[in-house]
Amino acid sequence: MEQYIIKGGVPLHGEVSIGGAKNAALGILAAAIMTDETVTIENVPNVRDTRVLLQAIEGIGAKVKYVYNNSVQINGGSICDFNVDYEYIKKIRASYYLLGALLGKYKCSQVALPGGCNIGSRPIDQHIKGFKALGADVVIEHGKISTKAEHLKGGHVYFDVVTVGATINLMLAACLADGDTILENAAKEPHIVDVANFLNAMGANIKGAGTDVIRIKGVSRLHGTTYSIIPDQIEAGTFMFASAATHGDVVVKDVIPKHLESLSAKLIEVGCQVIEGDDWVRVIGCDELKSTNVKTLPYPGFPTDMQPQMSVVLALANGSSMVTESIFENRFKYVDELNRMGCKIKVEGNTAYIEGVRRITGAQMSAPDLRAGAALVIAALSAEGLSEIDDIEYIQRGYEDFEGKLRGLGAVIERIDSEREAQKFKLKIG
Ligand code: EPZ
Repeated sequence: MEQYIIKGGVPLHGEVSIGGAKNAALGILAAAIMTDETVTIENVPNVRDTRVLLQAIEGIGAKVKYVYNNSVQINGGSICDFNVDYEYIKKIRASYYLLGALLGKYKCSQVALPGGCNIGSRPIDQHIKGFKALGADVVIEHGKISTKAEHLKGGHVYFDVVTVGATINLMLAACLADGDTILENAAKEPHIVDVANFLNAMGANIKGAGTDVIRIKGVSRLHGTTYSIIPDQIEAGTFMFASAATHGDVVVKDVIPKHLESLSAKLIEVGCQVIEGDDWVRVIGCDELKSTNVKTLPYPGFPTDMQPQMSVVLALANGSSMVTESIFENRFKYVDELNRMGCKIKVEGNTAYIEGVRRITGAQMSAPDLRAGAALVIAALSAEGLSEIDDIEYIQRGYEDFEGKLRGLGAVIERIDSEREAQKFKLKIG
């Protein structure tokens, strides 16, 4: 079983280039099958989630060509199956974007029901409500969700909760429907805008993405295009917070600073210096981090996907802080692991009460999920001594070459999968 082995205590220094946004890529890769022409997508992060979705897309008969590491060509003209295999949804929930894409293009689709995951129950009632509003029949049986429509017509959907997934799935299903669709209380994340821009590049007519009202005029067909995915806001934030936690000085490059505003604001609040360029942000850590409070909210609020990383920075700050998770019901599983390193965090309901400590020590840990795993790496980089982190396949779902990028910033980290390699690492670092 692969793990990370890390020797902490080294402030991170240097520049790191940020890859394409995973959560934009997943919607865009699914949308690409909605034309019979070839689509070229660039800046696709080469992570486990995008690889699995591309396998699912090949699995229904589309042609996928890996042009080079971060570019892929997709042609949906040869799709012959509208049922997405259970094995894919088991690996990544976002396979359910194929539900909306296939329904939109072929007026029918079937995907295994995504279960819950480590951060919450993750219902899809809003997706179903939206599909029905467009005139689709939706049936759930034998662990699968099937959609079918004689005729998809524009509808008016008011989401009961702000949901990234349902906003994207409904944009997919509505862009080829007859007439106009209005999505109200829509999610406004940068990746929503990126999926809408991609669909428009294919000939769709979507306005208002990035606001809470999205208007979609159905068109008769979509055509091929070439498109480059926006930078990953959460990968960038993870490196920014790693700089703060290790008292480092890191420039994250190839980013859109506007997408990082809530993160930069919190880093300034805790005492870091943040300098913004056109496509880069520099985070200079401070000797003594200050405590503060944070509540996760839909964009442009503080993102839930940065909540674990924020908790690590506050666990090392001077004073008491509160972190409130308002999006998911079970996103503090990493706290027990941090407390084994000497952190002082207590979770009550959806709030973590953090008492900052000056020193934490390395430990053996397991990554509970993708972002919590990244947070444990940040904690290990800031700790005294050695840490070993298991279940790193979670981290590899959303971070391309995470350990390589960290080593480029001076981190002492290796990915190992045997005791022998662990011994070699320990000998090497002395
Ligand atoms: C997306 O998940 C992201 N995943 C998540 O990132 C991210 O945490 C989340 O959005 C919030 O920003 C991808 O984009 C692949 P939601 P999604 O629908 O779409 C409730 C990561 O680390 N809800 O916005 O599943 C839901 O339970 C991952 O990259 C319903 O009640 O999230 C949650 O409380 C983790 N009914 C809230 O809405 C529904 O039908 C937000 O969920 C749908 C959602």
